[in-house]
Amino acid sequence: MADNTKRRVQRYDLVTPMLPVKEQILADFERILMSGQYILGQEVTQLEHEMAAACGVPDAVGVASGSEALYLALAMAGVRPGTEVITTPYTFEATIEAIIMLHARPVFVDIRPHDLNIDPARIEAAITPRTRAILPVHIFGAPADMDPIMDIAARQDLQVIVDMAQAWGTYYKGIPCGSIGRMSTLSFYPTKNLPGIGDGGLIFCREPEDAARIRQLRGHKALWINKNLYCGWNSRLDEVQAMVIRHRLARFGDEQRDRDRVAEIYDRLIPKANRLAVEDLDPGSKVTYHQYWVRCKARDRLRHRLDSEGIDTGIYYDPPLHHHPLMEYCRFCGSLQSAEVAGREVLTLPIHAALPFAEAERIGTLVAEFLERQEEASDAAS
Ligand SMILES: Cc1ncc(COP(=O)(O)O)c(C=O)c1O
Repeated sequence: MADNTKRRVQRYDLVTPMLPVKEQILADFERILMSGQYILGQEVTQLEHEMAAACGVPDAVGVASGSEALYLALAMAGVRPGTEVITTPYTFEATIEAIIMLHARPVFVDIRPHDLNIDPARIEAAITPRTRAILPVHIFGAPADMDPIMDIAARQDLQVIVDMAQAWGTYYKGIPCGSIGRMSTLSFYPTKNLPGIGDGGLIFCREPEDAARIRQLRGHKALWINKNLYCGWNSRLDEVQAMVIRHRLARFGDEQRDRDRVAEIYDRLIPKANRLAVEDLDPGSKVTYHQYWVRCKARDRLRHRLDSEGIDTGIYYDPPLHHHPLMEYCRFCGSLQSAEVAGREVLTLPIHAALPFAEAERIGTLVAEFLERQEEASDAAS
């Protein structure tokens, strides 16, 4: 029998990781409050420097959210009305909203079942004369396979903009993910691994000119680029957000170590076929576990089982975006079967820096036992 008096294990704990920096945040809050500089001040500038340096890119621009970051980066990459952007259907809505807001068309290709990221082998077939950019997403903090994507883009003269909203700290073959592609976009939404206490986002820019232009646009300055007029907008980042994010950035390594420990426990207990097989990733790749996922044909029953033990879980992206009403504005190329199956089978487990390792052991054991029973039941049926 489940012990209902026990506190539930939640998927996120947004408060406990704030405690080590609480006093500093409160002191800095008072300083900002009394400074009168609330938007785009020293904190934002420092955050931009620190993030760019950590990623090894020339510049980074703080903006109002990860969604705004996508919109501005795609606009600067020449995504305009009538153009197309190739992306994954297994992602959050914001990825395609930005494309549609620019009056361009998202084009879906399928994902790879083992890492749930866009399948580079399917991209070339989706290219048309209208294609302007490829938009991979490092889903759940696992790196997309960037080498073949960059090769295709170079051969076909396409831009690569990367949605790394879920992937701060993720590496691909030893390279920080924000430094691959023309621009990469980040979200500081409070559930992200590097969070603010409200909305915020950032664009990593490999070309200083992109950064300069985005700084103009985010502050209501219109721009002419190649005879096209770009409308300015309010996409500014607050000082308080930037200050909080800087404190969390300083602690990111420690928090990631704790997430890694939880992932190691799950990896040890859960069969490789039912999770991301980190063992098989390219050397130098680093996953940051915005989510830790398992796949199971009886996903809803597994969820119910964990729920009865007081454990919260998450379902993503069910159904994937090609079933979303916004499909009206999209098209797809080839089968999207792997995204479809992932939508039906993927369940995410609690993972955060404050999750006790003993809880991770208990959760991993419950999942492993459930999967084993499933296996036995299907063996008996066949
Ligand atoms: C993959 C992805 N892209 C974009 C976004 C949008 O970020 P924001 O919520 O900061 O606008 C998110 C946020 O959840 C996301 O997960």
